[in-house]
Amino acid sequence: MSRPHIEPFCDRDVSFKNMILPGFGSGFRYKTLSLDNETGACSLTVQLDSGYKQPPGFSYSELEIVVVEGVIKVGDMTCNRGHYFFVPAGYALPQIESEHGALLLMMYNTGEPNLIESDQHHQFSRTELYHHVDSYKDIVWAPGNVVSPSVAAGCMIKLLNYNPDSHAMSFLYCMTPQFHQDNISYHDCAEEGYHLWGTSWMMQFGDLPTGGYFWRPPYINHGAFASEYGCIAFGRTDSKLYNHFHYNPWSTPDENQLRSAARLAKRDPFLYKWCVNMSHNHPHGPEDFEDTMKRKGHTHADGTHHHHDHDH
Ligand SMILES: [Fe+2]
Repeated sequence: MSRPHIEPFCDRDVSFKNMILPGFGSGFRYKTLSLDNETGACSLTVQLDSGYKQPPGFSYSELEIVVVEGVIKVGDMTCNRGHYFFVPAGYALPQIESEHGALLLMMYNTGEPNLIESDQHHQFSRTELYHHVDSYKDIVWAPGNVVSPSVAAGCMIKLLNYNPDSHAMSFLYCMTPQFHQDNISYHDCAEEGYHLWGTSWMMQFGDLPTGGYFWRPPYINHGAFASEYGCIAFGRTDSKLYNHFHYNPWSTPDENQLRSAARLAKRDPFLYKWCVNMSHNHPHGPEDFEDTMKRKGHTHADGTHHHHDHDH
């Protein structure tokens, strides 16, 4: 997921456009929140107009959906605001309709939005990953200290999706009224957020109101935080969320990255040394022994190419 830093941004400040990609019917309008211009992956605010109806079908991209306002029917199921869907690539959803209209958050995680009309899943779809939940009614708020080191008390989460390999997470988070946290955070992962309701304040970016959004690449300082009346938001990371806290508002992303690497060197010195040197005199990217495509050699910046004959 490579997208530029977008922050602060509020979708209420821009207007909807008609979706013209094939497969989507009329009455599907969108605002782009963020876009990976290499893969077409994007996050959209979507307005389904009254009477919108779309046939059963799948996307070639993994898709997450949150019902922000209004009601949609997915097959026979009525989904109110707060309903969350994790839809693997190639998973055919039944007919979707909205009698009185709805506002959705739609995140196409791995490719551009598409809708291939079908009542069958794609043969390679990992259908076992599909799940959905009424996140407002059927999950309770958990303390935010499931992430270590912990955010301040009063920031709570509901975990919606978790990738056991990358530790990427999708979740709701809320700040209770009068929440405040006085330190500055950055992470080793990209972080995305959308305010479903309410306003929070951040030292670097000011007030983020209802409809407020950020796509924040790794190592960017954010915080202190506060929220006078509280807020509820959808959040997502692309890998493990670790809270690097500090109090230096002037540190740069490069300095934050070096500090993070220094912390790794202290915590896992042998792993760190091995990743950086590979018993060799230059950096070498790590390999996963479970990967099916093994790299046997590599090319240096000066154009020379060689193979390692030692076994990693
Ligand atoms: Fe963060």
